[in-house]
Amino acid sequence: MDELMTCRLDHIRKAVEPCTLVIFGASGDLTARKLIPALYHLAKDGQMPEDFRIVGFARREKSAASWRAELRAALESFSRSHPVDSAVWAGFAERIDYCQGDMADAAAYAKLAGMIRDFPTEALQQNLLFYLATSPSQFSVVAGHLHEAQLLRRDAQGCWQRLVIEKPFGHDLDSARVLNHELTRFAHEQQVFRIDHYLGKETVQNILTFRFANSIFERLWHRDAVDHIQITVSEKLGVSGRGGYYEEAGALRDMLQNHLMQVLALVTMEPPVSLDAEPVRDEKVKLLSAVRRLQPGQVASHVVRGQYREGFVGGEALAAYRAEAKVNPLSNVETFVAAKVFIDNWRWAGVPIYLRTGKAMPLSASEVRVQFKAPPHVLFAAQCGPLLDANALTLRLQPNEGISLRFTGKVPGVGYGLRPVRMDFSYNSEFGAYTPEAYERLLLDAIAGDATLFIRRDEVEQAWEIADSIRAGWDGRPLEKNEFYAAGNWGPHLADELLTQSGRAWREPLPLT
Ligand SMILES: NC(=O)c1ccc[n+]([C@@H]2O[C@H](COP(=O)([O-])OP(=O)(O)OC[C@H]3O[C@@H](n4cnc5c(N)ncnc54)[C@H](OP(=O)(O)O)[C@@H]3O)[C@@H](O)[C@H]2O)c1
Repeated sequence: MDELMTCRLDHIRKAVEPCTLVIFGASGDLTARKLIPALYHLAKDGQMPEDFRIVGFARREKSAASWRAELRAALESFSRSHPVDSAVWAGFAERIDYCQGDMADAAAYAKLAGMIRDFPTEALQQNLLFYLATSPSQFSVVAGHLHEAQLLRRDAQGCWQRLVIEKPFGHDLDSARVLNHELTRFAHEQQVFRIDHYLGKETVQNILTFRFANSIFERLWHRDAVDHIQITVSEKLGVSGRGGYYEEAGALRDMLQNHLMQVLALVTMEPPVSLDAEPVRDEKVKLLSAVRRLQPGQVASHVVRGQYREGFVGGEALAAYRAEAKVNPLSNVETFVAAKVFIDNWRWAGVPIYLRTGKAMPLSASEVRVQFKAPPHVLFAAQCGPLLDANALTLRLQPNEGISLRFTGKVPGVGYGLRPVRMDFSYNSEFGAYTPEAYERLLLDAIAGDATLFIRRDEVEQAWEIADSIRAGWDGRPLEKNEFYAAGNWGPHLADELLTQSGRAWREPLPLT
């Protein structure tokens, strides 16, 4: 085999059957920004089923023609490729319909059912994907009405009906359980597709490929070789107008409970027995269940929270979080969280995993750094002491997507200088700049019924247990002075101390090359 030949696993992908997609929240931001551009690109790339319909559902009065015109304009702004292909758009647009109605009104679902019944084939009438781009408080309301209208059936034979929902899935363990319970009154767990768009990113999917399609690194992927792991997901932006939402969420609920827990699980889980949805999700659940829960009294020594004050990010002034619209001027909501977690299993016992995420950080980046143990204290290490850097492997999830291995090399010359050097793999230079949007992959998988990249009920609940154990240590305690940080910094100094107390340090995400 040519050494650069691609081994295609397309046969493990399930076939996509003709179907109807109903988008609740048709006039919303998510639909315009992500869903329609993703569906258009799938159609353009010939990935959509041979026949499909898209029905938008929202309260605003409009015709199918005016909704199509709005979507066409949105595509101009949000498509990842320009110009928009008029011929592809024309074929795509003629499959788009609009249903005006209120999600709380049973009559609206009868109208929707009537529209769907008028579609020309049984597959378009019976294979139904409901995308709930709505507030989470509407999830069970919509599911209940769909069920009553016989559009979402638990006993469908020879056809399928699925619900796709977006995080947040509850705001703590109890509310997540209530939501999960409510949904399963109307649909089987196998019909519920919970999106964490992080799992649609190529680089996140590549974590499993990197670990389990190679033999070098997995041999080192455990407590004997790894000193610690750092996972950083940072954003330069503040809450930028979403203060109302953020006041209810905070960094722990908005990022750590979902995106960071998902990345943590993929980086540290055991190999699944196959690439099917259930074995992969079983391993993630096993891993999350092994993450040590903190007692309230342990939170202060393992977790640091922070909130940004005014400052400068990339040279631009940013107002304090408390000065944002719809934010309580005395808010104690965290915009930053850093945690030291332990995984109590055979592979990772004793290896600290440091997680951090925050807003108003010096740069936007997501990366995983696996820091290996230092070489034994002889030869070079004995002479260089702490100046000799330990090996590190960095998975850059975004931007500058790629993987770097850091090791020590000799500086050329007659003297004997040592310094860290990098071996780099970059997606752009290897595969070109084309990367599909996360929503393309996720929508296609939902149509195909492949749940591997979607979050199962027990994963959500395990992740909430971890997040809740942290929150229990904060509850009722206002932020202290040393928990604030100036915008444009890597959180409060306390976050550094989480590592420096054991002689370690955060590594800043790698600069763009
Ligand atoms: N925007 C993003 O990039 C993004 C990313 C990740 C997750 N999300 C999540 O996705 C969900 C939707 O977000 P969004 O930003 O798209 O919200 P949005 O812009 O506020 O849109 C809400 C949509 O729901 C419709 N709607 C509201 N109440 C309704 C009712 N009673 N009956 C029928 N339709 C109703 C609105 O249309 P009418 O006013 O015409 O009824 C509108 O189409 C949220 O849960 C959000 O957290 C959004």
